[in-house]
Amino acid sequence: MLFPVSSLLLLAIAGSASAATPGRDRSSLNADWRFSRFTSNPDSLSYNTLRSWILPQANDFLVDGAKHTAPSGTAPGSNVAYVQANFNDAGWQSLDLPHDWAIAGPWNAPGISGGMGRLPTNGVGWYRKNLTATASDVDGTKSIFLDFDGAMSYAAVWLNGNLVGGWPYGYASFRLDLTPYLKEGNNILAVRLDNAVENSRWYPGAGIYRNVWLVKVDKTHVAQYGTQITTPSVSSSSATVNVVVQVENLGNATRQVDVTTDIYEIDQSTNTVASGAAAVASIKPTTISVGAGKKQAVNGSTAVANPRLWGPPPAQTPNLYVAVTTLSATGANGTKTVIDTYETRFGIRSIAYDPSKGLLVNGQHVYVQGVCNHLDQGAIGTAFNFRATQRQLQTLQEMGANALRTSHNPPAPELLDLADTMGFLVLDEAFDCWSSGKVTNDYHLLYSDWHEADLRAFIRRDRNHPSVIAWSIGNEVSEQSSSQGGSLGQQLQNIAHSEDPTRQCTTAMNAAGPTAALPGVIDIIGLNYEGETGAYGSFHSRFPNKMIWGTETASCISSRGTYLFPVTSANSAVYSTSGGADGTHHYLSAYELFTPGWGSSPDGVFAGQDRYPFVAGEFVWTGFDYIGEPTPYGGSGGARSSYFGIVDLAGFRKDRFYLYQARWRPDLPSAHILPHWTWPDRVGQTTPVHVFSAADEVELFVNGASAGRLKRPNASTYRFRWDSVKYAPGSLRAVAYKDGKQWAVDERRTAGDAAALNVTVDRAAIAGDGKDLAYVSVAVVDANGTVVPRASNEVTFSVSGPGQLVATDNGDPTDYTAFPSAARKAFSGLAMGIVRAQKGQTGQVTVTAKADGLAQGQVTITLN
Ligand code: GAL
Repeated sequence: MLFPVSSLLLLAIAGSASAATPGRDRSSLNADWRFSRFTSNPDSLSYNTLRSWILPQANDFLVDGAKHTAPSGTAPGSNVAYVQANFNDAGWQSLDLPHDWAIAGPWNAPGISGGMGRLPTNGVGWYRKNLTATASDVDGTKSIFLDFDGAMSYAAVWLNGNLVGGWPYGYASFRLDLTPYLKEGNNILAVRLDNAVENSRWYPGAGIYRNVWLVKVDKTHVAQYGTQITTPSVSSSSATVNVVVQVENLGNATRQVDVTTDIYEIDQSTNTVASGAAAVASIKPTTISVGAGKKQAVNGSTAVANPRLWGPPPAQTPNLYVAVTTLSATGANGTKTVIDTYETRFGIRSIAYDPSKGLLVNGQHVYVQGVCNHLDQGAIGTAFNFRATQRQLQTLQEMGANALRTSHNPPAPELLDLADTMGFLVLDEAFDCWSSGKVTNDYHLLYSDWHEADLRAFIRRDRNHPSVIAWSIGNEVSEQSSSQGGSLGQQLQNIAHSEDPTRQCTTAMNAAGPTAALPGVIDIIGLNYEGETGAYGSFHSRFPNKMIWGTETASCISSRGTYLFPVTSANSAVYSTSGGADGTHHYLSAYELFTPGWGSSPDGVFAGQDRYPFVAGEFVWTGFDYIGEPTPYGGSGGARSSYFGIVDLAGFRKDRFYLYQARWRPDLPSAHILPHWTWPDRVGQTTPVHVFSAADEVELFVNGASAGRLKRPNASTYRFRWDSVKYAPGSLRAVAYKDGKQWAVDERRTAGDAAALNVTVDRAAIAGDGKDLAYVSVAVVDANGTVVPRASNEVTFSVSGPGQLVATDNGDPTDYTAFPSAARKAFSGLAMGIVRAQKGQTGQVTVTAKADGLAQGQVTITLN
């Protein structure tokens, strides 16, 4: 059955788009919540008191689907005031989701370690919302689901005083069935979260930090994550597309339905199906009878001729398709009615894991140029924002990254939508630990009860994304070197294979040797830092049939724009107070040479990778700085965010960005000089100049005089060094050559006194939807417009028109000004303001930046 496509497909993926298709209504439930946080338990509930009632939620994701039964009788919590309709929540904060209750601060929250980011993530948070149901919602023909993309953490949910269910793992997505408790008119939804201290080794955020959806469907419908699409044979002339549809009947009588799937091409430029487009392939209707309370799978297969394949740019194109599955039933009058329409985006592609070549996508070798990232989006925290995520990925893609590891937990679903659209390869990671923990309250507390359900739910959610190229079942788990590592690894990998036979599994190991049990079990050898010490060779000889990659590399640490002297002559060094680290101010040198003991500079990693050409590539720790883990300043009085990023927390590029760009986009003409050239206190002193470039040769000019033309030392090196340059004010100019021809030029000039603020914005127009963001950069400049590289003037942002300043930052891990503050010191000459348009508004928003004694700057953003 073919429907006019325009009426079927509302395929916007901006995270909050609501979509109604025949038989299915999925709408955002983000608006109008009330919230209160309690630092001591306000209700005498806990996960332990609720556990027996929440565990049955896991059943859908267990092989033994009857494993858990809720105790009889009323579940705890029904007498708590916050779940009651008559509770007066007028004094609670009023907000829209996604929400991170900790991000506004204050910093140095009691009990929160440097590792966790020193923000008040802990405590119990209650959320309440009024939910209106119509007569037809409760006429007995529908199921009404509440889908959480993520809630941090130990969620428990009540509707009209009844415990509906919950899910403890804060990084997981989950569904609750509201149907039994929903009534016509007003309903009270109440969500309790309980966030422990030391529940992660990084900033986990807190609250309902991802999107929440209300899904209304016929009682017979495509189940949650109810399609599985695979493309077992792919060529340029034809692809087989297999579709398994799980039909669920929650009604109390057997239901007969026709199941059909039509496949449409997604237009790359609009990211939707072109209006009026015909299906490119269809799976003929299959009629099934689904018993009351049962699920039934329907297997279908079709061929797509001349498929447009999905693959990572620049060599390939991330083409997408959408499978539109319809269920139709015959009504009393004999006519067929569509009772559900379910859309699944997917890509047609093949992947192969070649032990000697690395990753093959559609038969073509793709070197994995990846980064690891944590979930926070800097100054806006973990509250999921589509634009913030898109901006990160765009920055990474500009650098030449083609891969992302979702360290160390399931990402927001929209991150994978973006990865699909942009052509990123994703290593999708489930856990940071198994049964043995790394910090007091991490996943080890849940492992035994929840690992099967968490892993199956995660894979079912994500397995149709073409961007996902492998599953990571764990990061540096404590069991990695013991025999238990082998047995748990085998169990988890078996689960993953049973949910998805098409992808291999990896695990990130930093200590296991080649003879340990875990590497023997796991499909792909993932090495964290071990490869940099030569372990690639020993693993490859022991496992010649397994692909190997660097699941975590480098851990280079630096503060953007902050150069410390003297500079080591080595190409990689462990930081120390005599080199690379300023322990007084907690700065780390931006020469991009320094690491903690286990790491290696990017230069060292490149050499290590090139020595072993069978290695599939790397995932650098990390793409962006993140809140928490401010190694080496995690102790008391230390810093608040990490130094590992190639890009700082505000999104400003560190010099390292250009080092990776030189390696990953070697055809892009590039030359990047460091340091800056404004050193009034260093006149006559040795001030090494380095240039990052993929050129064959680079000549450096200091105040017009050549300091020498250097050849690139070897194919793994992208750093040209003039280590004995003496500083004198003026200019640096680097001229890069390829094949004997001038290829790229870069310059640095000595700045004069700060004179003005130069204000720019990442996009001149943003959507007036209350979510889209403009990133407004402020540079402190001299009278000639040259950035004053060590300026730290306090900049004050103001916004006029229908917009709002959400947060500010400067990328300095030691800055303890609260993120929402309109006043922000520049760090190494730069500050950032994040501005959101008011919902439903058009017109223009003007952002002004002022600083004492400097000419102010301004930028105008158009809302559309
Ligand atoms: C790794 C770990 C990461 C991060 C990193 C810092 O060992 O897997 O989560 O802690 O070290 O270098």
